[in-house]
Amino acid sequence: MLTARFELRALCGHLFYLCLGLLLLLHPGEAYQKISDEKLKGLPRPGEDFDIHTGSLLSPILQTRVPGTPGHTAVLEHLTNFFRTSLPKWEIEFQNSTSKTPISHGKEVPFVNFIAYRDPPGVPKGDVGRLTLVAHYDSKIDPKGFIGAIDSAAPCAMIMHAVRSIDSALERKWAAMQEQGMDLSDEHQGVQVLFLDGEEAFLEWTATDSLYGARSLAEHWDKQVNPAMSTFKSPLSAISLFVLLDLLGAKKPTIQSYYPTTHWAYQNLGTLEKRLRSLDLMKSKKTPWFVDADKNAHQVVSLGGIQDDHLPFLARGVEILHLIDYAHFRGFPEVWHTALDDAEHLDMDTVKDWSVLMTAFAAEWMDLEDFLEHSEAPRQVEKIERGEDTQTVDEERRTEL
Ligand SMILES: *[C@@H]1O[C@H](CO)[C@@H](O)[C@H](O)[C@H]1NC(C)=O
Ligand SMILES: [Zn+2]
Repeated sequence: MLTARFELRALCGHLFYLCLGLLLLLHPGEAYQKISDEKLKGLPRPGEDFDIHTGSLLSPILQTRVPGTPGHTAVLEHLTNFFRTSLPKWEIEFQNSTSKTPISHGKEVPFVNFIAYRDPPGVPKGDVGRLTLVAHYDSKIDPKGFIGAIDSAAPCAMIMHAVRSIDSALERKWAAMQEQGMDLSDEHQGVQVLFLDGEEAFLEWTATDSLYGARSLAEHWDKQVNPAMSTFKSPLSAISLFVLLDLLGAKKPTIQSYYPTTHWAYQNLGTLEKRLRSLDLMKSKKTPWFVDADKNAHQVVSLGGIQDDHLPFLARGVEILHLIDYAHFRGFPEVWHTALDDAEHLDMDTVKDWSVLMTAFAAEWMDLEDFLEHSEAPRQVEKIERGEDTQTVDEERRTEL
């Protein structure tokens, strides 16, 4: 099946409109498809809007955002505005809950999970499975002034960059299918973003003092049932892969593979890392990040757990890919849960490399090869934004090293 599809793609060349139907017939739905070198080179790298002081995307997240405080409200508004203005075709929802915490003196603290998704047009909600990119946006209450740059301001920004970078290709893909008069219900894949609230403990990590938002959402979605005859029984079963990003943005991350059933997806990320490095599209030094990429699925042993937002979903059978920087010899990154986890301690090459890597992964997952822009366009856009139309790409790279 795969071979036939690859040959067909080769035959089709630029006549993809003719062949699209055939391709999809051969391999409908969940088709993980490699993106060519040419298209990888065209993926946009974050630019000025990732500046930690003035950048319009990342810097507004780099503030304290403890649930129930003004900083938290401001960050939630920023996330919402980003989708409303940059990604107007995405649906936005909030899932709200309240809970007492060990330090709230009996008062209920509000938690708001942010949910955004984009489905193929006209396909009933219950018939779409969604690649789901997840990070928490709350910050820890102590030490005082804790920013949580890797935990998880930067991961939120990486996800925002990735989805905005594939959005127009998604649009083109679905428009092309509609132009062909194709039944889009053959297209079961959408994309979803979860920015979860209340991940951090207020006093000390326990089963009840942590994961406030994740526990509430997993329970809520578990009870929800899609209309009869839907492809997916509930919003939980419609999560085709739950990709959790946490503690990312420090130098030289070590990412282990924790789940045999999603090891294939982990390996695809490992392969993408290698390819992006060989194409000189990643600037951070250490390679490889995906230290288990050469293991086979049988050699992947779940540690019995890093406690994180995936747990309430894992417990309900959701497929998890946990991207967290953790190494046996050193544990979490050095700045973890200290005052040093701030904007200045982010390694920006690493943050931007992650953003490009997640863009590439989402593009492969959504099978966007034929709909991504060619390589020059995105860099030009970046330059025009900066008003640097005479600078070459190479010069631009050197200034950032
Ligand atoms: C949930 O909370 C958000 C943010 O406070 C608010 O805008 C939204 O209206 C609330 N949604 C519901 C259903 O209460
Ligand atoms: Zn944390």
